[in-house]
Amino acid sequence: MSKPKRSARALPRKSKTILVLHGPNLNLLGTREPEIYGTETFDSINERLTRLVRHHGASLEVFQSNHEGALIEQVHSAKMRGISWIIVNPAGLTHTSVALRDALAAVRIPFIEVHLSNIHSREPFRRHSYFSDLAVGTICGLGSRGYDLALQFALQTT
Ligand code: DQA
Repeated sequence: MSKPKRSARALPRKSKTILVLHGPNLNLLGTREPEIYGTETFDSINERLTRLVRHHGASLEVFQSNHEGALIEQVHSAKMRGISWIIVNPAGLTHTSVALRDALAAVRIPFIEVHLSNIHSREPFRRHSYFSDLAVGTICGLGSRGYDLALQFALQTT
């Protein structure tokens, strides 16, 4: 006798989990060069993103570090933790870190690169990103709203 088939409706739907990864010095948002990065604090940005994600019945993990290795380890463990999208502002590592780029390439989790400032209108050394060609998309220059827009995209895209 064949096994009775379980109806798809009986299976609980796993909620989407998105990881927001903040690079070095972003913990200082609110007081750090407000003329460039705005006055909204780091905590306030993350609280807003958490509310947005909850509203969509998904979950958010937020991780900030001033250490490259710690960010890399977060990326390595993301697959195991069921993360389906990463939103990353690599901050200063944008322009230097082959290692963080390699970690994102290794786990193959789709990611969106976000910068508060328009990195193309600043010093020449900020114009090159080690992440943009691997990212699904890049948002820069829209201040902290860039995170909201990236999150909306990740929530609406499988
Ligand atoms: C930044 C831009 C980087 O060049 C800079 O090093 C940062 C923040 C941004 O969000 O605009 O730390 O990623």
